[in-house]
Amino acid sequence: MNLALINGKAFIKGKLVKANILIQGKKIEKISASKIKADKEIDCKGKIILPGAIDVHVHFRSPGFEYKEDFFTGSLAALHGGITTIMDMPNTKPVTSTVKALEAKRKLVKKHCLTNFGIYMAALNNNLSEISKAKNLRAVKLYYGSTTGNILMNKKTAIEKLFKTAKKKGFVVAVHAEDEEIMKENEKKFRKSKDPAIHEKIRNEEAEAKAIKEVLSIQQKAGNKIHIAHISSEKGLNLVKKAKKRRNGNKVTCEVTPHHLFLDSSDYKKLGNLIKCNPSIKGAKHRKALFNGLKNKAIDLVATDHAPHSFKEKKQSYGKSPSGIPGEETMLPLLLDAVNKKQISLKRIVEAVSEKPAQVFGWKNKGFIKTGFDADLVIINPTGKYKVENNKLFTKAAYSPWNGKTLKGRVENTIIGGQVFG
Ligand code: DOR
Ligand code: ZN
Repeated sequence: MNLALINGKAFIKGKLVKANILIQGKKIEKISASKIKADKEIDCKGKIILPGAIDVHVHFRSPGFEYKEDFFTGSLAALHGGITTIMDMPNTKPVTSTVKALEAKRKLVKKHCLTNFGIYMAALNNNLSEISKAKNLRAVKLYYGSTTGNILMNKKTAIEKLFKTAKKKGFVVAVHAEDEEIMKENEKKFRKSKDPAIHEKIRNEEAEAKAIKEVLSIQQKAGNKIHIAHISSEKGLNLVKKAKKRRNGNKVTCEVTPHHLFLDSSDYKKLGNLIKCNPSIKGAKHRKALFNGLKNKAIDLVATDHAPHSFKEKKQSYGKSPSGIPGEETMLPLLLDAVNKKQISLKRIVEAVSEKPAQVFGWKNKGFIKTGFDADLVIINPTGKYKVENNKLFTKAAYSPWNGKTLKGRVENTIIGGQVFG
């Protein structure tokens, strides 16, 4: 049985064009301006077809924290958000820091995950031999500053060795870049305050900038692929920009999250710990710098850092409330809403959520609508409205900072390897 998407416009080679798409099995078989006949047809009149989004940064929490999320609910949320591939972070229980844990997680994910998936290994000060042994590893996560899970790697000699191995084996090192010492000092200073807005003062711009500077200086010598996760400050971004121009700068990339693009410190007042996340959401000047960075390509890609916790956990006082914001269902609608408001081009969005993630993380045959590529697609109603409602979300963390907001740009169907959802 084959399937045709007819009468729609598809995003091909940098622009929207009238195109009928024939899908055979898991692949895109043919793209044509003229009529295509197939066993099954989906009429895409008035719709646009984009390559499925590739979210290179999610926490689906399994094994160990299934009460927060699991691979079924996480991937269900993903496909409702037009995301066809996810890459899961290693701060689970056990931590994905050994080959054994990696293989066990792969088995579990295969069984429950509806989307394509990749799995990060955690880099520790003492697990390089495990990382070296791992097969088909796309990426490792280096927690230079600690966050949920208290995993830490900040010994320079160990990082130098890791980067050399990354260069040799070709995997990407994604870095959580915040400086432990600065954060600890700030914590002491603000110990008495319970206001969620102090999060920005504890995990401040200096903490991010110092960490980024240090890891990038090691990378400059080693020449490995490095990816700065969830960039959150103007200084941090300027350091990445500078690094991209120097030796081995072509191996430097970075991502921004929807929450750092669409929220700023003025939102703590209303949303409190619901928007507590690491690195922190900072002032409006940072948000603007990040948005501009996405527009002018200083920032390579958008990833959700989907980090669900239970509502009960999040509602605790500042010190107890865990950091993290869910984002699978809202990333694409938020970005499409920004396109509708003429704040950014559709071209830039497709590059940032599909094309660049595929290129940086080595997802061959994904990220583009091309003959022979995987049929991972999303059908969008570009002017359709999507109201974010906590009680309609598929993530187990049934809350969103955008609860109640109506966005223009609606995900209608998601197609993964030729299989239609929605
Ligand atoms: O806010 C965050 N939550 N930042 C992280 O780095 C980790 C994540 C989580 O796993 O909860
Ligand atoms: Zn994360």
